[in-house]
Amino acid sequence: MPRREVLQELNLWPVWRLRVASPLPSDVAGEVTLSPDMPVNRRESILSMEWDELRQAVSGCTDCRLHETRSQAVFGIGDEQADWMLVGEGPGAEEDKQGEPFVGQAGKLLDNMLAAISLKRGRNVYIANTVKCRPPANRNPEPDEVAACEPYLTRQIALVRPKLIIALGKVAAQRLLETDQTIASLRGKLHQAEGIPLIVTYHPAYLLRSLPDKAKAWEDLCFAVRTMQGLQSTAQIAS
Ligand code: URA
Repeated sequence: MPRREVLQELNLWPVWRLRVASPLPSDVAGEVTLSPDMPVNRRESILSMEWDELRQAVSGCTDCRLHETRSQAVFGIGDEQADWMLVGEGPGAEEDKQGEPFVGQAGKLLDNMLAAISLKRGRNVYIANTVKCRPPANRNPEPDEVAACEPYLTRQIALVRPKLIIALGKVAAQRLLETDQTIASLRGKLHQAEGIPLIVTYHPAYLLRSLPDKAKAWEDLCFAVRTMQGLQSTAQIAS
């Protein structure tokens, strides 16, 4: 889809109305680790798995109550060596049915957001969720469910080793940054999770309900693009 139409779809056209004023990539807000509520040896074993084993472990996982109501676990999708990694909250009804993240309405918006910055699902982009099984009635995952899934996402991040992570929404941002701060206070800064630069933006499902915040999401995407450019040129200088 041409860029102008994509921006219109996002209610972001004309772009000149938007003021993009974000800090430079050097503003790193700190590094975090998570202390999961799970036996150490189970976690350690997940953290040493390669892709196939990890996929199998997720698909057969019964570590929290979400497995009782899922149709299938939703692992993650995309380029396993991507520079970009996007992390959402958890599968919804459509994702639970199809086994792929972000294939419902929110997913369509996410694809348009990616297109607006010349990215495409699967091409240099990996998409995963904080929890791999659908919370019933699309409720937010409970803290113990997020903790049970923590090693899976941690291992996905370690295997992909993206240059930049974008946390989509509160659940992903709070889990990855191990914080209870709001999206509003986390946006516009460069954080770090698992040693990888991370930017926070709104969840696409929220943006479907809140048109004014689409402009802020566009600012976040511009910030992400600038950050990635900085990271890529730093990597070039280093090599
Ligand atoms: N919302 C998410 O956070 N993830 C999905 O995969 C779908 C909707």
